[in-house]
Amino acid sequence: MKIAVDQAGGGVLMITHVRSVALGVPDIGAAREFYEKHWQLDLVGTDADQVFLGAGCQDNHVLRLRATAEPRMDLLCLAAATDADVDEIAERVAAHPLGRVVNEPATCTDAGGGYRFRFLDCEGRTVEVASRVAVRAFRSVEPGESRPTGISHVVLNTADLPGALAFYQSIFGFKVSDWVEDIMVFLRSGTAHHMLAFTRAPHTSLNHVAFELRGIDEFMRATGDMVTKGYSPLWGPGRHGVGANTFTYFQEPTSRFVAEYTTGMLQIDPEHEWTPRVYPANAQTSDSWGVASPRDDVVSASLRGCPDTGLWQPPPV
Ligand SMILES: [Fe+2]
Repeated sequence: MKIAVDQAGGGVLMITHVRSVALGVPDIGAAREFYEKHWQLDLVGTDADQVFLGAGCQDNHVLRLRATAEPRMDLLCLAAATDADVDEIAERVAAHPLGRVVNEPATCTDAGGGYRFRFLDCEGRTVEVASRVAVRAFRSVEPGESRPTGISHVVLNTADLPGALAFYQSIFGFKVSDWVEDIMVFLRSGTAHHMLAFTRAPHTSLNHVAFELRGIDEFMRATGDMVTKGYSPLWGPGRHGVGANTFTYFQEPTSRFVAEYTTGMLQIDPEHEWTPRVYPANAQTSDSWGVASPRDDVVSASLRGCPDTGLWQPPPV
């Protein structure tokens, strides 16, 4: 099997991090209880049918919940370094045969503010790119605290992995860090081994959102806190063989979206050449520590989720 390991995009850092994810959830009360009370995100604000939750970082919010009839991913919000980067990305989307601009770049005054635009990607996900976002006064995560410090990465299920990879590389200049066979590709923009990853699936959906913990101790405390509160890990704790980040996955019971606690991801020095590797899809690749329960059909089905009902339908807010 031959896999392209093209390093598209040169060395220009256009996306600094995943700023937030917005989810549509059928039981917003239950989802809020899970993410605020148990997952330990901070309540930033609410309005008619939305809840904004922050973390130990300056982004206004890292998770937006909106009441919807069916679970859906409303938005993947990526932080751009500059307004010029937002404009450049918008121009690339407009010029791409599979990109559809929803809103042109503009300065916004609602939650989070910033200079931003939205577009539909090649599979119909709504993606927001923003710069100059509002800075929120936040409480830093202290040693031993099991609150997340922000979003680490997002994994997306795709029915067209080569297509999704090509699209995201051409729009954002993401670099390939590694592969798991031809099943999963890990992408970076900056030093973290992955900010986004795509997994081959029968349909397009959200695989999981990973939240960063301060360190290994805080990661294990966070995992233990969830267990104490009555949640059984879907999978983990363990340590991925690709990217070296630790993982414990939990599932919000009503929307069925999967969230991950993680820390300790491999950092790639941009000054040194990095050659992507292709890992076998085996137990060592999934969990290098070998302590997590096997990645069984329940884990796979939960991460696969259901076909996203939000595709090609940008959220109204
Ligand atoms: Fe992950």
